[in-house]
Amino acid sequence: MSRIAYVNGTFVPENEAKVSIFDRGFLFADGVYEVTPVVKGKLVDYDAHVERLDRSLSELKIAWPCTKPELRAMHEELVKQNKLDEGIIYMQVTRGVADRMFNFPKEIKSSLVAFPQIMKLVDNPNAKVGVKVITTPDIRWLRRDIKSIMLLAPVLGKQDAYEKGAAEGWMVEDGKVTEGTSSNAYIVKNNTVITRPLSNRILAGCTRRALFRLAAEHGVKIEERLFTPEEAYEADEAFLTSASQFVMPITEIDGKRIGGGQVGPVARKLRDLFLEEATKG
Ligand code: PDD
Repeated sequence: MSRIAYVNGTFVPENEAKVSIFDRGFLFADGVYEVTPVVKGKLVDYDAHVERLDRSLSELKIAWPCTKPELRAMHEELVKQNKLDEGIIYMQVTRGVADRMFNFPKEIKSSLVAFPQIMKLVDNPNAKVGVKVITTPDIRWLRRDIKSIMLLAPVLGKQDAYEKGAAEGWMVEDGKVTEGTSSNAYIVKNNTVITRPLSNRILAGCTRRALFRLAAEHGVKIEERLFTPEEAYEADEAFLTSASQFVMPITEIDGKRIGGGQVGPVARKLRDLFLEEATKG
């Protein structure tokens, strides 16, 4: 498949999309990223992603690579040029290109690259039956609130999950679940959704934020607190959220069936509410 990608101001066929070997993203993972869903050719929850990008950049003292209207126009142009109906736009900003040195180089210009990926977000077949999750140690750094491109720990965690026949790894630190390798983690007990509060130990998911709003609007109770894998095994339901999965039910954790191995009503309801909003014209 040949896509049109975006590299520092130009739209190019993907095989011509190239960055320098001196890009600090390549050398130091010195950059941040966002993944924005696209449904029916429209960006979903775009403003929340830009707000988080802004925060990630400012925490790392990386300059904006362009103006906010330019970033939005770039996203929309990528959707248009690729005729993207459903999927995601991946975008990445790095500190830029300079001779290899650890401290921030002076007079450096941030790099911006982006590309689309076709994905089935709405009719994802996994959502009908739920997915399996395993637990895996959280070996990441302590600024997980920044959406950094430094993703080796999540790569290892996800690979651990795949090798065990699961779709996601729930990372565990000090005996408590932090989040998924690329998603936020939730359990449901007695109709209350339980999820870890925001801190430097997890990423503030844009889907999580939308979920909180939808839950409040529709009378679903959410309790923000830590939970253990053992508590999760005993939960009525479990699910995860992310820009590429939306609300995804979980039916097995570490080989233990959750909710009798069936997709639960709370996860189903929250997914439906999310889809209703994402698909409305
Ligand atoms: N990952 N936690 C982590 C560690 C993540 O990487 C992600 C998203 C989330 C959910 O955030 P959001 O709802 O804004 O997508 C939570 C993206 C999808 C990725 O890396 O592909």
